[in-house]
Amino acid sequence: MQPQEKGSHRCYGENVVLPLVSGISRAESKIENYYEIPGTASKHYLERQQIRESNARSYPRRISMAIREAKGIYIKDVDGHTYFDCLAGAGTLALGHNHPVVLDAIRDSLDANLPLHTLDLTTPVKDAFVEELFASLPAEFARNAKIQFCGPSGADAVEAAMKLVKTATGRRSILSFHGGYHGMTHGALSLTGNLEPKQAIAGLMPDVHFLPYPYHYRCPFGFGGEAGHQISSRYIESILNDPESGIVTPAGMILEVVQGEGGVIPAPDDWMREIRRITCECQIPLIVDEIQTGLGRTGKLYAFEHSGIIPDVLLLSKAIGGSLPLSVVLYHKKLDKWTPGAHAGTFRGNQLAMAAGGATLRYILENRLAEHSDIVGDRLLEHLRQIQNESCCMGEVRGRGLMIGVEIVNPLAEKDFRGNYPTYPQLASCIQAECLRRGLIIEIGGRFGSVVRFLPPLIVTPEQIDSISEIFQASVKAAEQQLLPILSQAS
Ligand SMILES: Cc1ncc(COP(=O)(O)O)c(C=O)c1O
Repeated sequence: MQPQEKGSHRCYGENVVLPLVSGISRAESKIENYYEIPGTASKHYLERQQIRESNARSYPRRISMAIREAKGIYIKDVDGHTYFDCLAGAGTLALGHNHPVVLDAIRDSLDANLPLHTLDLTTPVKDAFVEELFASLPAEFARNAKIQFCGPSGADAVEAAMKLVKTATGRRSILSFHGGYHGMTHGALSLTGNLEPKQAIAGLMPDVHFLPYPYHYRCPFGFGGEAGHQISSRYIESILNDPESGIVTPAGMILEVVQGEGGVIPAPDDWMREIRRITCECQIPLIVDEIQTGLGRTGKLYAFEHSGIIPDVLLLSKAIGGSLPLSVVLYHKKLDKWTPGAHAGTFRGNQLAMAAGGATLRYILENRLAEHSDIVGDRLLEHLRQIQNESCCMGEVRGRGLMIGVEIVNPLAEKDFRGNYPTYPQLASCIQAECLRRGLIIEIGGRFGSVVRFLPPLIVTPEQIDSISEIFQASVKAAEQQLLPILSQAS
């Protein structure tokens, strides 16, 4: 391990010095907590929340706590329990909670009497933000780029992008992917693979066609690997060129470079290049949804850079607001066929988010946090693969940078046609609960909720990665001990 400097840490395997984010901390190299969840004080708030908030609330059902304060990678609940936060606002908090550069940017904006709300009028803060954002893009993309500020959520960017490509092409249908997640508004939900939230909603956006994503472990074609992704791209090419495929030339194709909510499934770079070639040849605008992967999470500033492709449309939200709500659509100017006011919205001028987002982007670039994400992400993957060797329930460990997932399987069930065990969502939930009791917040996603997900902030240190892995190891063991005997009795 690299030497530790006071007030900083040397990025593992790299000659980069990163300042340590100080604040709340916890004993880091041993598991010393076993919390009652929810604690007594949290229970009070959770009961009130349950009475007053909608039945659609989601995270409090699995992460049962009321948060008192947060700093860096740590969250402290109202019972005084401290947790490693490997959910980080569903990937929003690139620099963790309350990073000094983010707080300074917000404070400076407030002290400067900056207008907090400007519709889409411009300001020096907005101008500087756009300048920095464009400078962070590959030159080939930036040279022809236009930007549309949307309503503040990721789904708002997705909605805007659909309107953009439909207007530009005059076409009506959209291609999306199995396992894709693009948000919960009507249009964005229509593009999302997960059927559960769609069940109760009649009349979703029509003309959406779903295509097979290259999911190695559960390849729909039964191959996986190179063969699996080649069949996917050949199938897509064939339906776009077959006059009897039933799919008219679409207005656009939307995809994630690493599917997040779908179960942390990275698309192979070769597949991405094939998809770009096919969409170029068929003149279909390619919309890359980097709402979760954007700003360094996967080991590159933008995940599409791994494959070297250039999208036509790029969607950013989450990290780009530096913890505050902000969402943008960046696109090739040839698509700018919108008439004045064609896409409006009251909340497109969040100045604090632009200041915080600009500071976050600068910090990520100056401190090479994308490379750091790659290095510490590999370290976490290595730990998880070691834990996998001792476990019978960790079907696949996968991910890119600091976007990592473990697919949890049932080793007592019959294997599928590819020789893999079926998913075991109850065990995934049990692992999540055991992690929480030991002071680690992780998320669940993927098919049937069977993938445990790690999305720590990019400032996570190698030492923290080691502690997180230790907690995970103990939690997997505890969960297996609880559930496997029950399963074996039943089978
Ligand atoms: C890839 C992707 N697209 C879109 C969204 C929707 O963003 P929001 O929840 O801000 O509407 C998300 C949210 O997790 C996402 O991960």
